[in-house]
Amino acid sequence: MNLSIKHLFGLEGVPKEDIDSILDTAFSFREVLERPIKKVPTLKGVTVVNLFFENSTRTRISFELAEKRLSADTVNFSAASSSLTKGESLRDTIQNLFAMKMDVVVMRHPVPGSVKLLAQFVDAVVINAGDGTHEHPTQALLDMMSMKEKYGSLDGLNVAIIGDIRHSRVALSNIFGLKTMGANVLLCGPPTFIPYGAESLGVKVTYKLDEALEFADVVNILRIQRERQGKGQIPSLREYRNVYGITQQRLSKLKRPITIMHPGPINRGVEVDSDVADSEHSIILHQVLNGVAVRMSILYLLAGGR
Ligand code: CP
Repeated sequence: MNLSIKHLFGLEGVPKEDIDSILDTAFSFREVLERPIKKVPTLKGVTVVNLFFENSTRTRISFELAEKRLSADTVNFSAASSSLTKGESLRDTIQNLFAMKMDVVVMRHPVPGSVKLLAQFVDAVVINAGDGTHEHPTQALLDMMSMKEKYGSLDGLNVAIIGDIRHSRVALSNIFGLKTMGANVLLCGPPTFIPYGAESLGVKVTYKLDEALEFADVVNILRIQRERQGKGQIPSLREYRNVYGITQQRLSKLKRPITIMHPGPINRGVEVDSDVADSEHSIILHQVLNGVAVRMSILYLLAGGR
């Protein structure tokens, strides 16, 4: 199960065969996570550094858990408590870390493309844990795994991505991955949240939520990325909720259930109501569990041979 890629920068251009291998391997690791002893010796002797220059709950803990489940040695770096705060440059920081012989680096950074830059000056496997508004490939892979688990195949599945598409790295990685796997993708949100020319990515666009719900087998709901946008793109959170919030009242107009997904963190009562997020049709916590399995899969396939 060798991959054609050496690093995971994003899902743009990653072939279907690679995504199939990652998802198949992730399903095997899901079985490990169900065992009483949830650990295999696969990455014994491999050292992984988790470099987080932005806050994270799910991705950071999920990677760390995946590394521990594979018996890798794990080191965590958080920018806020590092010597970066004393004026050390990013390059010096990273070169010092790699002088200590790291094999794999998992990085989240606010600058799009930063992971590619990193790979140019370290001799290690580089995995993107989210680079600014660009890509978040492991999130999209765990999203696809969760959809595949529910529907058996992604081919022909109708997936509506709803919310702040413009500032979302989750959206872009989902679009690339889902299109490669044969799904139909529709983007929905206010015009200020949909990138100009989005249709060129092979997706449909609507500004009407009811149209998106009518289309969808699955809705992947995104929060408003307030940390990545200027003010004035929506009149108010209350108005956004009134027009684009996913509520039981809206869903009950449909005659069939829709699968509810959200990458987290959720702003309950804004993009989705609590009773929808916690409903029997929500697979949000399954996504979180699958996140560990997908990250084990990526680490194994990219670093297992080293
Ligand atoms: N989905 C996701 O990336 O969540 P975190 O920001 O908590 O890692």
